[in-house]
Amino acid sequence: MKILVVGSGGREHALAWKLAQSKKIQVVMVAPGNGGTALDGRLKNIFITDPVQLADYVQQEHIALTVVGPEAPLAAGIVDVFRERGLKIFGPTKKAAQLESSKDFAKAFMQRHGIPTAAYQSFSDAKAAHDYIDQQGAPIVIKADGLAAGKGVVVAMTLKEAHDAVDMMLSDNRFGDAGARVVVEEFLEGEEASFIVMVDGKNILPLATSQDHKRLMDNDEGPNTGGMGAYSPAPIVTPQLHARVMREIILPTVHGMAKDGIPYTGFLYAGLMIDAEGNPKTLEFNCRMGDPETQPIMVRLKTDLVKVMEHAVDGTLDQIELEWDRRTALGVVMAAANYPESPRKGDVIKGIPAETDDSVTFHAGSVLENDQLKTAGGRVLCVVGLGGTVRVAHKAAYEALDKIHFDGMQFRRDIGWRAMRRL
Ligand code: AMP
Ligand code: GLY
Repeated sequence: MKILVVGSGGREHALAWKLAQSKKIQVVMVAPGNGGTALDGRLKNIFITDPVQLADYVQQEHIALTVVGPEAPLAAGIVDVFRERGLKIFGPTKKAAQLESSKDFAKAFMQRHGIPTAAYQSFSDAKAAHDYIDQQGAPIVIKADGLAAGKGVVVAMTLKEAHDAVDMMLSDNRFGDAGARVVVEEFLEGEEASFIVMVDGKNILPLATSQDHKRLMDNDEGPNTGGMGAYSPAPIVTPQLHARVMREIILPTVHGMAKDGIPYTGFLYAGLMIDAEGNPKTLEFNCRMGDPETQPIMVRLKTDLVKVMEHAVDGTLDQIELEWDRRTALGVVMAAANYPESPRKGDVIKGIPAETDDSVTFHAGSVLENDQLKTAGGRVLCVVGLGGTVRVAHKAAYEALDKIHFDGMQFRRDIGWRAMRRL
């Protein structure tokens, strides 16, 4: 059978790589894909991004099912377009994707359904937002309501930063419509974890836990990024905490969406903040898998992902169990010069090692031009290592990474430090 993966990042390369391992697969199409998906003989890039044209292509090519990677096509309604034509697709509808595409929607939803999250208020009027911030004090967090490619959140340590963030979003319109409304919320302290599940409308299938590293540089310094590395499992999520997150956050979310008449299907990602006492709160929802969390998670998945996807689109996720490699997988992102501000493109990438039993490299912002691999975006590669402990996985990842070179490459040396500290 043929399957389509929509997107071009490291997450999509990892999903396509895993799907292609299935005996059922003839070819996995990736739209539009990247340099890495172009190099893999089992994958085929197709250069279509418009949802209607993609649906036409899926019908022509008799593609059995489609998996959507990024939030933008979901928020634009690709699932609605496919479903209207009776095409099988895994992801939330446009309405359900509001859990990610509108922070205001997500906060009101959580409040309505008693799901633990930071206290907040939302504003479209700058003066009211400034007054609220003065009354609450700093630190405080300002979030653009809409999708802002990971740049819409300001964790303000001072009142000045908070007021500047409101001015940037509401008065200067820096994010356009996405910033026409802001959520101002309580600053939460603790450790973050990524909690990702698959939902078929009624059944919930949790994936392995993971943890991401948002800051550009070692010791969690420098600007926020889309994620500079991730590993799975995340030892902070003990079996007890896992059960509690399912009970207090995931189940009420899935049931709440159904109750509100917007049944949720697709990957659901709760970004958690876990305080010193081990209490979880929801920082945000994403209506997709995480990037780079997907890369280590897919490397650990032993179950045939095609089978899992078939159950997901048929509403029978209760009939499958996931089997995981017991080892830790740890992925390190290699980013382009000047990422995240204004990533440089066109640097030649050399030395990517062949996949082994304990390492694999996924591509994101790369392109294959006349048989030469070049950088083509912010996050270029994600090198994943596997090992019996997080330390061994760390070593495997960096041994592979140290063979790779492109001018201006940026990466962290300390991915996994929280888990290593726990040992
Ligand atoms: P979000 O896109 O909402 O996950 O926010 C991006 C990042 O900002 C998160 O991964 C956290 O590191 C940080 N953040 C978001 N909300 C809060 C909060 N209420 N308190 C502290 N940090 C936050
Ligand atoms: N790695 C964080 C995210 O995908 O949103």
